[in-house]
Amino acid sequence: MFDRLPTPFGLVRAGVAPDHPGTKTVTESFERSFRRDAFGLHLDVAIGRDLTHAELLDHHHAVIYAVGASTDRRLGIPGEDLPGSHAATEFVAWYNGHPDYADRTFDLSGTTAVIVGNGNVAIDVARILTMDVDELARTDIADHALDALRRSRIREVVLLGRRGPAQAAYSNPEFLALADLHGVDIVVDDAELELDPASARAAAADPAVGLRMRLAHEYAQAAPQPGRKRIVFRYLTSPTELLGDDRVSGVRLVRNEPIEAEDGSVVARPTGEHEDLPAQLVLRSIGYRGVPMPDVPFDERRGVIPNTAGRVEDGVYVTGWIKRGPSGVIGTNKACAKETVAALLADFDAGKLTTPAQGRRDLARLLASRRPSRVDLRGWLAIDDAERAAGRAHGRPRVKITDRARLVEIGARRGPARLLRRLIPM
Ligand SMILES: Cc1cc2nc3c(=O)[nH]c(=O)nc-3n(C[C@H](O)[C@H](O)[C@H](O)COP(=O)(O)OP(=O)(O)OC[C@H]3O[C@@H](n4cnc5c(N)ncnc54)[C@H](O)[C@@H]3O)c2cc1C
Ligand SMILES: NC(=O)c1ccc[n+]([C@@H]2O[C@H](COP(=O)([O-])OP(=O)(O)OC[C@H]3O[C@@H](n4cnc5c(N)ncnc54)[C@H](OP(=O)(O)O)[C@@H]3O)[C@@H](O)[C@H]2O)c1
Repeated sequence: MFDRLPTPFGLVRAGVAPDHPGTKTVTESFERSFRRDAFGLHLDVAIGRDLTHAELLDHHHAVIYAVGASTDRRLGIPGEDLPGSHAATEFVAWYNGHPDYADRTFDLSGTTAVIVGNGNVAIDVARILTMDVDELARTDIADHALDALRRSRIREVVLLGRRGPAQAAYSNPEFLALADLHGVDIVVDDAELELDPASARAAAADPAVGLRMRLAHEYAQAAPQPGRKRIVFRYLTSPTELLGDDRVSGVRLVRNEPIEAEDGSVVARPTGEHEDLPAQLVLRSIGYRGVPMPDVPFDERRGVIPNTAGRVEDGVYVTGWIKRGPSGVIGTNKACAKETVAALLADFDAGKLTTPAQGRRDLARLLASRRPSRVDLRGWLAIDDAERAAGRAHGRPRVKITDRARLVEIGARRGPARLLRRLIPM
């Protein structure tokens, strides 16, 4: 397994919210795979930079790309590049200590933040912006983010859904869990919960949509209390422009109407009715996007590596977000990976995979010359141990090291054997 970062686990480390430690325990199951003899861990090695696609194939029967979707989608509206407007992908990577985003700054000195989109990432971001900082201080959130959030003046976070409440992208447990935030009101306007005929049919036929509507109605009935922070859900609204001269001062919104498409789905159509909403921070949370791998086919429109059930071409496979697009939870990737691995094994059994010209020792030599600073399993265990030890002193699961050079430096120590014993009984 190769990763361009000095740490493993992708979005489980750099995406999953710090206040969801239970979700991150899936790393224990990944670490069990690290114990296998056949497993080699090569961190801080970027494919396409340190090793080419052809070199990977020269050393292995097959290559599976599981590179995720590391960039963001854009709104394409005026003002999107004003200071104060960011992608949620960047904000998430920043608060989770991704080394490439550790030096970003987010101005939290205003009172109102707008998040465009209402998926689970938008909900994560709204929660992190409003929740009690002392609670966050018990998590593995990056220290730089904790400091910034302590000084934050944000009191209100507004989520903009372009479609109606029945089509909201968040999942019910995430929506419901917001009710547990201390000192935060969840605000929904009853008037925005009126359903068009197609949405009403969906709410009646689909229990998940029905529950989503009941939860929204419950929030709408609760009276917000003065002095508390607020997360406000708006529906059927889209931004048409970010306002401001030298930085964001507001968002121009258009009211949408729900239209039933030919396939029965409900889409949003702008009405021409506008409204300006003051805001000092805008985060677009409208989805991630895959980036091309050199020498590997790429579907520009969908931002994925084109494939059939995980097969790309002889010896080349994909799984996860770069295979399906940027949606689905961790469990979704498990089924997705099973499909890919089944395809690979079937191809191996059918004799379709070429025996590699070079072996493990050749790969080790190549890596040593291309990336002498790479981090191996012992290196990762040394990093993990250092982070956990720093966390123990403060009652936190870990204190993330966010400086890439420091990670590589600790990783180079390759960890004492006692660490390796944690994973591999000797
Ligand atoms: C903000 C956020 C919060 C989430 N929270 C949850 C949650 O609470 N529960 C849940 O079930 N799901 C959650 N998810 C979804 C879950 O994280 C994803 O479904 C899953 O991580 C996708 O896995 P992946 O392997 O496709 O991509 P990723 O997890 O992104 O992994 C891709 C890996 O490839 C590496 N890589 C990229 N390019 C290269 C290269 N050229 N060379 C070497 N390595 C490379 C990256 O560094 C990364 O480690 C969340 C997603 C996000 C964005
Ligand atoms: N706790 C968790 O389990 C958890 C946490 C975080 C993420 N995840 C998962 O990770 C995946 C990615 O989450 P996500 O929130 O990035 O994506 P998502 O669920 O696809 O949500 C994207 C949101 O952006 C909106 N949008 C897209 N283009 C837009 C545009 N041009 N203008 C306005 N709005 C636009 C979408 O609206 P439409 O619906 O109208 O397209 C939707 O509301 C999801 O599967 C999610 O469940 C899970």
